[in-house]
Amino acid sequence: MKYTFPNGFLWGAATSAFQIEGSPLADGATPSTWYEFTRRPGAIADGTNGDVACDHYHRFPEDIRQMKDLGVTAYRFSTGWTRIHPQPGVVNQAGLDFYSRLVDLLLDAGITPLLTIFHLEEPMWLARQGGFTRRAAVDALVDYGTTLMRALGDRVKLWCTINEPSLYSYQGYAIAEYPPAHRFDLRGMFHCAHNLLLAHARLSDACKALVTNAMTGLAHYYVDVVPANPASARDARAASFMDDMANGVVLEPLFHGRYPEQVVRRMSCFLPRGFEKDLPLIQGRQTYIGINYYRRNRYRYSFFMPFLHAVEHVDPAAPRTAMGDEIHPPGVYRALMRMKTKMGNPPCIITENGPPIPDVPGTDPLDDEARIAYMTDHIAHIGRALQEGSDCRGYFFWSLLDNFEWSKGLSMRCGLFRTDFVTQKREWKKSAAWYQDFIRKGWLEHSAASC
Ligand code: BGC
Repeated sequence: MKYTFPNGFLWGAATSAFQIEGSPLADGATPSTWYEFTRRPGAIADGTNGDVACDHYHRFPEDIRQMKDLGVTAYRFSTGWTRIHPQPGVVNQAGLDFYSRLVDLLLDAGITPLLTIFHLEEPMWLARQGGFTRRAAVDALVDYGTTLMRALGDRVKLWCTINEPSLYSYQGYAIAEYPPAHRFDLRGMFHCAHNLLLAHARLSDACKALVTNAMTGLAHYYVDVVPANPASARDARAASFMDDMANGVVLEPLFHGRYPEQVVRRMSCFLPRGFEKDLPLIQGRQTYIGINYYRRNRYRYSFFMPFLHAVEHVDPAAPRTAMGDEIHPPGVYRALMRMKTKMGNPPCIITENGPPIPDVPGTDPLDDEARIAYMTDHIAHIGRALQEGSDCRGYFFWSLLDNFEWSKGLSMRCGLFRTDFVTQKREWKKSAAWYQDFIRKGWLEHSAASC
C-alpha cells in the first residue's frame, strides 16, 4: 500500500532544553530540578549529567545547519524555565536573547519552530515550595509562558504548553524516576497532574490573546493499553482502568471536561478538593493535541495490587526498545483513530516517537537499520490513519541528536545524529539519510498491518 501525506504536513525532529543544551547555569540561569537531581548519587543510571550534554547552547547554529540539510520542515524544542525566570518574577534578558536567536536562525533556514514551554523540568525555587503539588505553581508557569509569548510570539506560532503532564506526575511522585523522586505519593501525583492541566488551559488562553494565528496544545504521553488476555473479562476491566489512568486522565478533561468515571470513583480522594470546579476551565482550550507515542502496555487483573488491581504483563516474546518499551506501531494508528472517533477529530501532531539504540561494542554505531524500520512502520500507520480521516498535521521524530535521556543518562542514544559526547562531533546515522530521503519524496510503500 502506498501512503502519501498532505501538502504542508510537518516533518520534524524534537528535543528538549535540559537534554541537549548543557551550560545549565550560563548567563544568569539558576538550578533546575534536574540540575539538582543529577547530583544525587545513584539517581542517573550511567552516572552522567546534563552539564554539557550536546553543548547545543553554544553549537545551535551548527545544529540548525544540519537540520536544514536533513530537510526537516519543523523543529520542536523547549525553553529552560530558569534561563528566563531565574527567580520568581525576575526576567533574564540573556535567556530570552538566546531563544530569540535560535528562533531567528530556524526561520532563516525555513524551519517552523514548535516551542514547548514546560518540558519535564522545574526551577528549584519552585520545587522548594512544593512544585506542582501546589496551585501557586500554575501562576508561576503562566507568568513564564506569557514572558515567552510576548518575546517570541511575533515569530513562533506553534506552541506546546506542557510536555506529558501524566508521565511527569507519575515518574516524579509514584515511581521516583524523576525529581522530586517520591514513591507511591498518589496525592502528589494527582495534584501535580491536575495543576498542570490547569496551567495548560490558562497558557492556551494567554496564547490566543497574545499571539496572532497561534496553534496551541499539549503533548500527551499516549500509551496503547490492552488486556494481557483479551478473552478475560477481568483483564479487560483492569486494562480499561489503566487506560483511564494513562490516557483518560488527560484526554477526558481536555475534550469532555470530566475525569473518567472510574478514576473519580476510585481515586478522587487523591485529587485536589473542589477539582470539579476546574474542569470547565480545562475543557477545550487547545487547538491541537500532541501525541507522544512510544509503547504498548498489557495488563492483568490482580487482587493484590492496591488501588489499581492491575499489574503490567510483560510478554517476553514482544519486541522492546533498550528502555523496555514494547514496540507496537499500530498503537499510533489507534491513538489517532481514538482522537477521531471519541474526541471530535481535532488537529493532531505526533510530537514524539522514536527508539533508543545504545552502542554495542564491535558494531557500527551509525548503522541503525532498526531505527529506520521503527520509523517506517510508525509513519505508515500514521498514513493509514490519515487515509481513514484523521486530522494529523505532523510528525516529530524523537530525537534530532543523541542526548541526555533523563534518569538513563547519556548512553541511551535516541538521535538521528550521533553525538560524540567527548568531541561534540555530530555524525549522520543511516536513519538520518533515510529520513532526508523520505521527506524529499513524501510518501512510502508499506503493508501497515491491521491491529
Ligand atoms: C520525553 C522525552 C524523552 C523521551 C524518550 C518522552 O517521554 O518527552 O523528553 O527523552 O520520552 O524517552
